[in-house]
Amino acid sequence: MSVEPDPGVLEGLDAWEGLSAEQQPSWPDATRLRQVREKLATLPPLVFAGEADALRAKLAAAGRGEAFLLQGGDCAEIFAEATADRIRHKIMTVLQMAVVLTYGASLPVIKMGRMAGQYAKPRSADTETRDGVTLPAFRGDIVNGYAFTPADRTPDPERLLEAYHTSASTLNLIRAFTTGGFASLLRVHEWNRGFTANPAYSRYEEIAAEIDRAIRFMAACGADFDALRAVDFYASHEGLLLDYERPLTRIDSRTGLPYDCSGHFLWIGERTRKLDGAHIDYFSRVQNPLGVKLGPTTTGDEALALMDRLNPNGEPGRLTFITRMGAGLIRDRLPALVEKVTADGRPITWVCDPMHGNGIVSSSGYKTRRFADVIDEVAGFFEVHRALGTVPGGLHIELTGDDVTEVLGGTEEIDEEGLSRRYETRVDPRLNHQQSLELAFQVVELLRRS
Ligand code: TRP
Ligand code: MN
Repeated sequence: MSVEPDPGVLEGLDAWEGLSAEQQPSWPDATRLRQVREKLATLPPLVFAGEADALRAKLAAAGRGEAFLLQGGDCAEIFAEATADRIRHKIMTVLQMAVVLTYGASLPVIKMGRMAGQYAKPRSADTETRDGVTLPAFRGDIVNGYAFTPADRTPDPERLLEAYHTSASTLNLIRAFTTGGFASLLRVHEWNRGFTANPAYSRYEEIAAEIDRAIRFMAACGADFDALRAVDFYASHEGLLLDYERPLTRIDSRTGLPYDCSGHFLWIGERTRKLDGAHIDYFSRVQNPLGVKLGPTTTGDEALALMDRLNPNGEPGRLTFITRMGAGLIRDRLPALVEKVTADGRPITWVCDPMHGNGIVSSSGYKTRRFADVIDEVAGFFEVHRALGTVPGGLHIELTGDDVTEVLGGTEEIDEEGLSRRYETRVDPRLNHQQSLELAFQVVELLRRS
């Protein structure tokens, strides 16, 4: 039996159109935009309401300290990079980190990609000027092209459809890889053994050997369940481009309630979380679990106001606060925020984004981050929550499965010279495969020290 939506629910989904929406492109062709939106509205959902509900329950568990979220992937996905190899490497990286964290934290790890929809980017300026020529800023592959030409930089609604189809094929591969035996625990652990066998990473051998023993113990006990052969893997992206999110919203026939079926989990960035803005209004009306990014200047009252708008009834797992304070500020700024929110009583899942508060520019001009700062922010996140008796619920990481050189440091000591070797990102610098695994092992070391 299917439940019809309340007419007010449908109307409400369009209320954002009357509000100010930050960070939206100026589409030159309004007619084509309308046609594309109509087309998107007829296409099948990319994810299902029941999956979003299952994720909400898992995030609620993470908020209580009974699970841990690992959310990782590109700063900005690129259509041309949605290849089987790149996607596979990214999934492998997240899974390898997940095995280490599952063991180290003795908790189920919720695996989530910044994948299959992470195509739209907020920018600090609408335009970019080079040698006296001014063009629209690059807002991600879903809006315009990266090359500094009028043809590329003009926002093109056709790209919304390309984003949908590229997300669909990415998700198809994710679903195949995570259920078809590729993601089996033994196999992922073998990849980790390959990593720690490299003398450069011998520091992590001991933890890998412990995991090995634990797995052999399980095998000796006859543990051979299906659960070890597959994983649930969720798709997430920043809910930025409302001309994409709105048409992909569907009414769940079980409940008559709307879900944004472009991804399981959507987060709202610092630049679009104005309380009376279009984004908060729109996302307040869909049932998906949501994240909001909070930077170092966020006040406790702002956090409470966001809870009033996005999770007034305090439904567990509905709202995740993703803090991005910077290594230098987290120990100073996070405590007051967590105390204020905790006193309110409505549950929040706290997640650490140790990437976006730690950007620097190398002397050679690259936008980069220091691996040591990333680790230090994670350490600060655990310290603050431990001191307050609250729960560190997960990590939000920008990473790629490939061997890029975008973040300084790590055992391979990428230095300022080294950045130029393989710097590929169009937006923010990502941890490479090895740095990502090191992060996971170092988090286990941090958890042991506490
Ligand atoms: N299904 C379990 C889980 O997701 C165990 C598991 C199978 C696993 N393959 C994995 C855990 C790969 C981490 C990584 O936790
Ligand atoms: Mn980024």
